[in-house]
Amino acid sequence: MLITIPDVLTPEEVTHCRALLAAAPWQDGKASAGAQAARTKNNRQIPFGSPEADTLGRIVLGALSQNALFLSAALPKTILPPMFNAYGPGENFGVHVDNAIRAMPDGSRIRTDLSMTLFFSNPEDYEGGELVIETLYGAQEVKLPAGHMVLYPSTSLHQVLPVVRGERVSSFFWLQSMIRDEAARTMLFDLDQSIQNLSLTLGNDNAEVVSLTGLYHNLIRKWAEL
Ligand code: NI
Repeated sequence: MLITIPDVLTPEEVTHCRALLAAAPWQDGKASAGAQAARTKNNRQIPFGSPEADTLGRIVLGALSQNALFLSAALPKTILPPMFNAYGPGENFGVHVDNAIRAMPDGSRIRTDLSMTLFFSNPEDYEGGELVIETLYGAQEVKLPAGHMVLYPSTSLHQVLPVVRGERVSSFFWLQSMIRDEAARTMLFDLDQSIQNLSLTLGNDNAEVVSLTGLYHNLIRKWAEL
């Protein structure tokens, strides 16, 4: 499932983050890529674990922790600290699959189930730079307004097309979901969305809404890995 999460950050938060990003140190993007990906990665990023990345990462994770659509779609167990990258004219990231396992700052490791890109540039700020994700239904090109985020399975082949003009700045990071199986996670998301829509018309205390809510939680109880 590929899903857009709108308005993760408010316009004011985007402006604040953009000022922090402009003042941050930048390094070659190959520093965090696996061997195959490093050969095709041609961009810049803020060093992992730097104070600037930590400050920005806290803002992003704070916003996501309040975002009902994200929590419903991802059912996150562990989220890696967000990273930040920039693509200027001629920079791109060729077709690759992200590393399956990544290390947390404390040395523990997580499985990357879902990949995220949160945009800090607006589409009119740059030409090119589309995130192209291969899905079962063909390639999807993603270019979102600043403050919006795309969430997609980390198993997907994807690339960032060359930027032709301007600069594309974004945050990219991964999470391990409590629900490993993509199909099960998608069904839980669909069920949760239907329950929320039903409760708007029928009320939270409607007997069928209560029953379906119980079913939702019992499926999580059956499938969740903590
Ligand atoms: Ni990638």
